Amino acid sequence: MSDIVLKTENLTKYYGGVHALESANFELRKGEHVAIMGDNGAGKSTFVRQITAVEQRTSGKVWFDGKEVNFAGPIAAREAGIETVFQNLALADDLDVPSNLFLGREKVLFNLGPFSILDRKFMRKATEAALIRTAVKIPNLNNTIRHMSGGQRQCVAIARTATFASKLIIMDEPTAALGVQETMQVENIIRTLKANGEPLILISHNMRQVFDLLRPHRCLPARPHRRQFAQAGHRRQ
Ligand SMILES: Nc1ncnc2c1ncn2[C@@H]1O[C@H](COP(=O)(O)OP(=O)(O)OP(=O)(O)O)[C@@H](O)[C@H]1O
Ligand SMILES: [Mg+2]
Repeated sequence: MSDIVLKTENLTKYYGGVHALESANFELRKGEHVAIMGDNGAGKSTFVRQITAVEQRTSGKVWFDGKEVNFAGPIAAREAGIETVFQNLALADDLDVPSNLFLGREKVLFNLGPFSILDRKFMRKATEAALIRTAVKIPNLNNTIRHMSGGQRQCVAIARTATFASKLIIMDEPTAALGVQETMQVENIIRTLKANGEPLILISHNMRQVFDLLRPHRCLPARPHRRQFAQAGHRRQ
């Protein structure tokens, strides 16, 4: 168990009569990068939502970083070290880029009773640095997310994931809304994360992308009763 980053056992989620995820057994070890592929509606995003406690699972067990976990919510999962790009991006539409990067972990200058004064200068500088590091181009950081294109929103979500130190990065269809240029940028971010040895789960419909980025040498079919998704992975030697 010591080198296991993430493990699920019989992870199951029902939405009323809809069996979205049935008995998913999954394992990710240190230094591994794994892709999950499957049909639309196979349960891939549901799987991510159960691990990150966006929803509470129907049944099954999850181990993270060596111990069994039952996160109360997504903030607890993030505090434990799971950074996620959700398929719906989970950004706050009315906030600007720095506020979104620091969403839920705002840098505070000082507290005045129940009020907090935010360190906006620090957050802006850190955001600029994150965007440079990840080669993401956003013309105006003061723009609210609502006024950005789909591709720009996706870039903000990816920059957020790559900004904070983490023990596991999950990306659910990170390039789905991106053009050729932006896709190449995101793929470069993934290559950098991989070169740094960061454990990574990539959910993608794009075979070329999965084989290019992860060069899998094992491909395991996971067998939920009604649905199927495949786990392809690269284990560092
Ligand atoms: N909140 C919900 N209530 C009811 N059914 C849901 C809910 N969320 C997802 N589902 C159903 O669960 C199944 C799995 O959905 P999920 O979003 O996990 O698929 P996916 O593999 O991520 O698909 P895609 O590749 O299209 O993103 C689908 O049949 C979907 O309709
Ligand atoms: Mg999905």
